[in-house]
Amino acid sequence: MTSSTIRPASDYPPGGDAFRHRHLTGIAQLTPWEISYILDAAEEWVELNRSGAAKHDDRLAGLTIINAFFENSTRTLLSFEIAGKRLGADVVNMHAAQSSVKKGETLIDTAMTLNAMRADAIVIRHASSGAVQLIADKVDCPVLNAGDGRHEHPTQALLDALTIRRRLGRVEGLTIAICGDVLHSRVARSNILALTLLGNEVRVVAPATLTPPAMERMHVATFTDMDEGLKDADVVMMLRLQNERMDGAYLPSAREYHTLYGLTPQRLEKAKPDAIVMHPGPMNRGVEIDSSIADDPARSTITEQVEMGVAVRMACLDILTRRQRGVPGWN
Ligand code: CP
Repeated sequence: MTSSTIRPASDYPPGGDAFRHRHLTGIAQLTPWEISYILDAAEEWVELNRSGAAKHDDRLAGLTIINAFFENSTRTLLSFEIAGKRLGADVVNMHAAQSSVKKGETLIDTAMTLNAMRADAIVIRHASSGAVQLIADKVDCPVLNAGDGRHEHPTQALLDALTIRRRLGRVEGLTIAICGDVLHSRVARSNILALTLLGNEVRVVAPATLTPPAMERMHVATFTDMDEGLKDADVVMMLRLQNERMDGAYLPSAREYHTLYGLTPQRLEKAKPDAIVMHPGPMNRGVEIDSSIADDPARSTITEQVEMGVAVRMACLDILTRRQRGVPGWN
C-alpha cells in the first residue's frame, strides 16, 4: 500500500499516537503519516457531506469553536463554520473589522479574551506570519491556522492533496507545477511542504521577482519560463496575484503578466494531456487563469477543492478536539 491510498485504521498507531499535535499551525510540523491520517479521515466526511439529508454527526456537540478572522475570507471562513456545525459544535465568528481590534486591542489581548470565554478550539487567520503560533502559545485550547501572512495555510494544502488524490488516484510520484505569485503565497509554501513530503516532484514557475529565495532548500526546481515549467506536469496549480501584499513594483502590468504567465489553453497543452488545473481561489480571471480553463470541469478542480475544504476541516476539528472530548486513547 502506498502513502497516497486510503489506509485501514489498523495501519496507524493506536489512539492519539496517530496524531500527537495539540495545534495545527503548519504542514511543517507534520509527518507524511499524519498528513495521510487527516486525508483518510476526511474521506468519511466527503461521503457524509454528499449524502443529502443525513449531513450531520453530533460528535462535537457542546463544544464552542471560535473563528477569529483578522483578514478577509470566503472559502476558509465558511467551510470552517460549516464543518463545525455539521459536527454539532456551536460556531462563533469574530470578524476583526467589527471587533475591538479596531479600537487598538493587541493580538495577545484578543487571544486572552477568546481564551477566557473557554473556547474549545480557535481557528485563526491573520495577516502576520507567526501570529497563529503566538496565539497557540497563549491559549488553553487547540488552535488551527486558517492562513497567517506568507507563512502557511495548512488546511488549504491538505484539501489540495485530497483533491489530487481523488482526481488522479494518488498523490505521490506526480509532477506538480505551482505557478504565479509564489513569493507572497502561504498556499504555495504549505503545498510545497506537503507535496514534497508525500513524494512528488514540485516545480515553482514564476517571474524572478515573485520567486522566493532559496527554493532549492525546499527541494523544488524553479522556472521563469512558463512553457518549460509546465512540460509534462500532472498537476498545474495556479496562484492568485496577491496585489494586497505587494508594496512595490513586482510586475510591469497585469496584461504583460497574463501574456507571460497566464494559463491559456495553448499553454496548458505543454502539460500532460490529462493534467488537472487547480486554483485555491479567489481567482483573477483573465490574469493568472483563463475562464475557459477555470470553468472546464474536465480539467479544473476548483469547485472540488472547495468541497474537499469542508471535509478536511471536519477531519481537523474532529482530530484536534479528541483529547478534550475524552475520546478513548486520546489522553
Ligand atoms: N483559498 C482561500 O484561502 O480562500 P479564502 O481567502 O476565500 O478563504
